Formats: sequence, C-alpha cells, structure tokens
Amino acid sequence: MGTKSSDTGVCPRCRSAVPRGSKFCPHCGHSLLDHNPPLSHWALEDIFEIVRTISSTLDLDILLKKIGQAAEHLTDAEASSILLLDESRKNLYFKVATGDKGSVIKKHTVPVGIGLAGWVAQYWKPIIVNDVKRDDRFMKQMDTSTGFVTRSVLAVPMMIGGDLIGVCESVNKKSGPFTEDDKNSLQNLANFAAVSIMNAKLAETQQNFFSNTIEILIAAMEASDPHYIGHPTRVAELACAIGRRIGIEGQSYRDLYYGALLHDIGLLAVNHQVLSNQISGLSRERSAERIHPVLGAELIRGVKLLSGVVPLVKHHHELWDGSGFPDRLARENIPLGARIICLVEHLEEIRLSGVKGLDLEPMQIQLAKNGAGVKFDPDIVKAYLTLTIARHSMEVL
Ligand SMILES: [Fe+2]
Ligand SMILES: [Fe+2]
Repeated sequence: MGTKSSDTGVCPRCRSAVPRGSKFCPHCGHSLLDHNPPLSHWALEDIFEIVRTISSTLDLDILLKKIGQAAEHLTDAEASSILLLDESRKNLYFKVATGDKGSVIKKHTVPVGIGLAGWVAQYWKPIIVNDVKRDDRFMKQMDTSTGFVTRSVLAVPMMIGGDLIGVCESVNKKSGPFTEDDKNSLQNLANFAAVSIMNAKLAETQQNFFSNTIEILIAAMEASDPHYIGHPTRVAELACAIGRRIGIEGQSYRDLYYGALLHDIGLLAVNHQVLSNQISGLSRERSAERIHPVLGAELIRGVKLLSGVVPLVKHHHELWDGSGFPDRLARENIPLGARIICLVEHLEEIRLSGVKGLDLEPMQIQLAKNGAGVKFDPDIVKAYLTLTIARHSMEVL
C-alpha cells in the first residue's frame, strides 16, 4: 500500500511532494496538469492497491488486519476498527482495533443499538459524526475505560447477501471533517471486505474439515497396525525439515507435508486386496509393500485439494538408480517430494525394525551415506546430513 498522504501528490520530474490539484510543481515548475489527479482518482488508485493486498490472503486474521489498515489509510484516520456481529446477533465484538489503544479496545463488546457502531448495526446505514460530543448516540464509557479520545467517527455497515456481518469504522480524521467522499470510499472497502471475509471464513471451515479428515485417515492407518503409530507424523516432520532446507515453499511445501503424512495410506486398502487373493506369486508382506503406493494414490486421486500429493504417494518407493517401484522411475523423473519421502521412509524402516536409542541415528546416517547417488538423491542426503549436524551442534551448545 502506498504511503502518500491523501492531500498531496508527487512531482514526476523532481519527486517533491506537491499539494493536490496544483497546476505546477512549486519546487521545479514542472506542469502537473496530467500528473496530479483529483481526489477521486487517488482514492480509486488506493482502492486497487487495497484490493490487490486484500485479495492475496485467505487467512481471516491477517485479512481483517489488512482491511483495518486500509480503512485507516483510505480515510486518513488516526485509528480504525472492525466489529463483527456475534452468533446471537445482539452484540458486536472488536475483531480489529488499530491505534495506540487498540489492544484495550478489543476487549470490549458493543450491544446492537448502543453507541455509534451499534446504531449502524441496528439500522444498516452509514454515519458521519464529526463531533461526537454533540451526538447523544456516542458511548462515552468506552473512551473513559480505554483512555482513547474519540473526536470524530465514520462508520459503515458490512453487508453480504443482504445481511449484516459487522461494522467498519474510521476514528478521528487527521485533518478536517470526514466527508461524503470518505464515506463512499469506506463503504466500497467494506462491501469488498465483506465478500473477502466470507471467502476466508469458508476457506477456514474447509481447511478445518480437510485437516480433520486427514487426521481421521492417519488414525485409521495407525489403528490398523500399531507398528505404524507415530510413523506418519515423524516422516512429515523430517521430510518438511529437509524440504525447507532445500528451499521448497508454498504449495509444493504443503504437498510435501500432506504427502509425507499420507504416504502409506494405501496400507488401509492393501489388506483387503491381499486377503481377497487378487495378488498372486508374491508373499503377503511383499505384496503389501509393492502395491501400497499405487493403492494410496488411487485412494486420494479424487480429492482436489490433494492433487499435488498423488504423485508423491505413488512414487515414494522409487529409487534414484531406477530400481524402485511401482514405475522404476529414476533420478529427476521421480517427483522431488517423493525423493525426500523415500529417504525418510528408509530411515524410518530402521526404527520400525526395532533399533532404538543411541544406536538408531548412527545407523540412519550410515544408511543415508551408503545410499547417496544409488538409492537416494545425493542432494537430499546432503540436506539431511546438514540438518543432523546442525541439530547436534545445537545440542552441544
Ligand atoms: Fe511406504
Ligand atoms: Fe512409510
């Protein structure tokens, strides 16, 4: 977001601040007729910047904070608040309160119908009050208990689908009174923000549902064989640490996390397949080992949020030299996340075979070193060894 004041522009030649509406730069004399647009243009430019900033997040807390900052900036106010309607729809609670008393203000609730924000929540109409002392609706107790001094308030309803979700307010215009322009700008922001808030709430609900479903799947897998208790979490922790070390981020990092958690999910389906005698010629254990990556990939293939995870699950037993399964992929043809999970899976196998305590890590390190460039991607082995050395040096300190 830009930091310019709403009543100044910048001369394109000498970059000095110039009063809005000036025809010539007072510093260098450059003509500003095409470069110093009226307020509405500046506000529009600001709105676009704010839309870009707000659209870039689905995290509700971060989003609301950005909207509060945008309200403050857009209306040139000392502070801003976002109050949301609670479940009972009888009270507003502060979700965001900027300014030096923000943290104290956030502890308060405002009943619908009481105070200026409460009035907006009751009548679903914006208000401008440029001298709160002269307005009976103003709730003085809030200032008394928080120590904040309110002079002027601009508050607008936040609506979505014809229903109120909260109130957005700017407090204490820095220069002059709040204007109709300010009201329109804040209402535009509030309308846009309301949609973003609903999207973020929806994404939060979906994410919670998604995380809970993954937890249930992992619990089911662990319950199917006590041998595996803790295995998915340990693989995810080490795989993600290696991933961070080699610079994996964003969606690829999330795919790595879920891929590592779910890499053996095919074991849930494997028993049924083996017992149904659909596999012949291999021992039951060997069959399970061979088919679980493919069955796992098939299990999650239909889940859109896991589309990037499917190849990691399917190929987590491929080996660097092409001797793995199911497709005998080699080197960089194996997805990067699958190469990481493969190494961690092999390190875990030592633990799962019963090796414990001080013997475990030296054996894991030896296995990684022996397998570098043969079974495992040498760069991933290097990242694992670097992490292990770094952890040891921290322990020594
Ligand atoms: Fe596996
Ligand atoms: Fe595994």
